[in-house]
Amino acid sequence: MSQVTQAFRDHHSELAKQLSDYAASFMQDKSTADPQAFAAFLKNDLVSHAAGEEAELYPIVDELVRAHGKPTDTMRVDHKYIESYVAQIEATAREFAGAAPDKQNALRAKLGKLGLELDALFKVHLAKEEEVYLPLFEQYVSAEAQQRVLDAMHENHGGATMQQIDVRVIPPVQRHALIFKTFEALGSGEKFELVNDHDPKPLYYQFSAERAGEFTWDYQEQGPQVWRVYIGKP
Ligand SMILES: [Fe+2]
Ligand SMILES: [Fe+2]
Repeated sequence: MSQVTQAFRDHHSELAKQLSDYAASFMQDKSTADPQAFAAFLKNDLVSHAAGEEAELYPIVDELVRAHGKPTDTMRVDHKYIESYVAQIEATAREFAGAAPDKQNALRAKLGKLGLELDALFKVHLAKEEEVYLPLFEQYVSAEAQQRVLDAMHENHGGATMQQIDVRVIPPVQRHALIFKTFEALGSGEKFELVNDHDPKPLYYQFSAERAGEFTWDYQEQGPQVWRVYIGKP
């Protein structure tokens, strides 16, 4: 790494640290937090840094990306950060499910903070796709090819069209009722996915006892960390 790029990184971490510190000071210690200093920092340091980059650095980066880079790499970085937030939120939700009542408020606050941070990141990410990518796509890709992309998105990446019950994040007392309620609501030929951190064999025996011949049970993954089963009506 050159000394100059190191200087950029150092300045970035200094800005990021100050921003986090200001934000934390307003969240925690309401008495000493200084709104004027916060606003001045943003205007004088953070916004002027961005203006400097647009004037001096980005014109060169435009050329470099055209010659040696991949323009969507920046968006892939966003996706990586989004996934890491999702993983943190999932882990906190799991912790919440097993937490004593006196620990739950702290975990709720943590979920709120993670949610707000992800919200800010996601908004910027969507704005980039909608302000930069989609207008290009609309202008330069034929209507048929646009439709093919949309269809492929729906077909291959449509997310959970099937309902999922992640037992790891549901308090034990609610599990049984939710699972059977979901099962009852299925139409013939429909299924839902059950996710657990151990083999849900006892549930299988329960279904066998109460719904013999009326249910299907197909393991999708069998440990060692995660068990996934499709439970359906034949
Ligand atoms: Fe920067
Ligand atoms: Fe995206």
